[in-house]
Amino acid sequence: MTRPAPEQLDELVAVARDARERAYAPYSRFLVGAALLNDDGGVTPGANVENASYGLGMCAERTAVFRAVSEGARAFEVVAVVGSNPQPAWPCGACRQVLWEFGPEMIVVSEGLDGTREEYRLADLLPNAFGPADLA
Ligand code: THU
Repeated sequence: MTRPAPEQLDELVAVARDARERAYAPYSRFLVGAALLNDDGGVTPGANVENASYGLGMCAERTAVFRAVSEGARAFEVVAVVGSNPQPAWPCGACRQVLWEFGPEMIVVSEGLDGTREEYRLADLLPNAFGPADLA
């Protein structure tokens, strides 16, 4: 895909930062917000949601994907992530796999709390990914 416009990235990061404020992370205290840009221009936020049964928690990125897909979205162009460290935080392995399903061309942008922003292509974060094409 073509690189998203800088203003579009600014908006997505702002949505992720705002979603982070609504994270439920009383156990790790590591708040994460995410925002997806889908192929029709829609933006879907998500935050991590933990549980007293620790293993049942859900990351911000997957919260956003499941929300967006359940609302009809099927393809994403960008995901923005804001974690809780000064430096950028990157999606965990499980989230990379789930993101791949709906956007192998996706750009992943992450901003640290100190404003440091970096981006990667999802394909570089998940090389040799297993995906829908393998089952075609
Ligand atoms: N977490 C996310 O939401 N996204 C990531 O990319 C990494 C980790 C959450 C899971 C858990 O609630 C907390 O951060 C600490 O691992």
